[in-house]
Amino acid sequence: MPINYTFPRDFLWGASTSAHQCEGAWNEDGRGLATVDLKKMPDGISDYKKASDFYHHYKEDIKLMAEMGFKAFRMSIAWTRIYPNGDDEKPNEKGIEFYNNVIDECLKHNIEPIVTINHFDYPMHLIESYGGWRSRKAIKDYVRYCETLFSRFGKKVKYWLTMNEQSMMIVYGQSRVASLFYGTPMDTRKEVMNANHYMCVAQAMVMNLYHELRLNGKIGPAPNIVPVYAATNKPEDVLATMNYNEFRNTLYLDLLVKGEYPKALWSYLEDRNWQPDIQEGDMEILKAGKPDFIAFNYYFSETTKAFDNQNDIAEEELVSNLTFMAQKGNKPRIAEQTSNNHIPLTTSGMGIDPIGLRIDLRILADRYHLPLIITENGCGVKDTLTSDKKIHDDYRIDYLRKHIEQCAIAIHEGVDLIGYCPWSAIDLVSTGEGIEKRYGFIYVDAYDDGTGTYNRYRKDSFYWYKKVIQSNGSDLS
Ligand code: BG6
Repeated sequence: MPINYTFPRDFLWGASTSAHQCEGAWNEDGRGLATVDLKKMPDGISDYKKASDFYHHYKEDIKLMAEMGFKAFRMSIAWTRIYPNGDDEKPNEKGIEFYNNVIDECLKHNIEPIVTINHFDYPMHLIESYGGWRSRKAIKDYVRYCETLFSRFGKKVKYWLTMNEQSMMIVYGQSRVASLFYGTPMDTRKEVMNANHYMCVAQAMVMNLYHELRLNGKIGPAPNIVPVYAATNKPEDVLATMNYNEFRNTLYLDLLVKGEYPKALWSYLEDRNWQPDIQEGDMEILKAGKPDFIAFNYYFSETTKAFDNQNDIAEEELVSNLTFMAQKGNKPRIAEQTSNNHIPLTTSGMGIDPIGLRIDLRILADRYHLPLIITENGCGVKDTLTSDKKIHDDYRIDYLRKHIEQCAIAIHEGVDLIGYCPWSAIDLVSTGEGIEKRYGFIYVDAYDDGTGTYNRYRKDSFYWYKKVIQSNGSDLS
């Protein structure tokens, strides 16, 4: 049956960035030191110090987004531009001014800013004073930072995202990537679970506060959510996959939407004394803080099975037949991850699973009954700039087309999807693979060896996405 692709009339078509990955200007206008500034990249890979230089190009970039017809721009605010130390007495007016300018520029072009309050970067001073999210003290400083954002930008910004990919910050809590958000990796699982709890309590307080302020906007979390497939129909594999799913997905959204811990995961944590330190009143706060929508990032699905080699499982895992959270490498694992030969890969090795996005949408809609926005989805690969300054990225068009098709079907199936903001609006510095792993519709002429003019060029996907938006998703050709 041919699919009639219809998207809601006010659908939020746009794309995403994050402050540290695109802004550069890491030490300008009073910005304080953040964890991301100290991230050690592999040799020959760009760090975040100059990034795409959005700080000095934002007008040009937003104009290009407007040319594409963006209805929304999902961006983040760098905490250390607002509070250079994280807990300063007064905010840094230069930082406030910069984001006022960016927001005004969006509004001038009828682009709705969707603002992530915190996208991985964290003030170093707070790490040095009390360990950042290792401590309950982090809640107070995060809430105060949010209060400032609401009072300074609350009249203009109608969509707020409390935190980017808390799920990844927890899954990778003890790995090297963790230095991005915690300064150094966490030492113990208990510490990771405490950080998760404090982050959820803080976000619940902020969602509550935002609603009390009656600013006439909406607020919600932005985790990374993956559909997890069982590798086989062996009951042990299905059970291990369910367990992994609780750790990988439901832990965050059950806390943030329903105000409760997933039960099997909780009993597993308790068995090992890894459960977080819950104080009196925390669960009431969690119950009271309600999101208006769920934003989520989707790149690929995962496939898991039960560990069949006991040597893969840390000693303590053997006491339970819930074989999850075994430590393998430096990433905690609940079940063994396996490949899925039904899923093709991008040239950078990432799975391409558009149906997985639809599965995510269906699961989230069924479990949480809230409007959904996709705030990341995309294809990060090397692009070639031709001598006549063109970028023929048909692979990216193909990737996005297939994912948008699945969004259309999900909407047809009843999912309340209100926006699609793939990663990324412009090329920017990836988590660990530099600026040449490109995701943008707009090419930034910058390279990992530090060269480049920083000129902007429209990729083929730019023109294609413009047509998609113009037709409100009915023309994906
Ligand atoms: C998401 C993050 O996990 O994936 C982004 O929110 C990140 O910050 C994106 O850039 C793509 O991953 P990577 O590793 O290719 O940059």
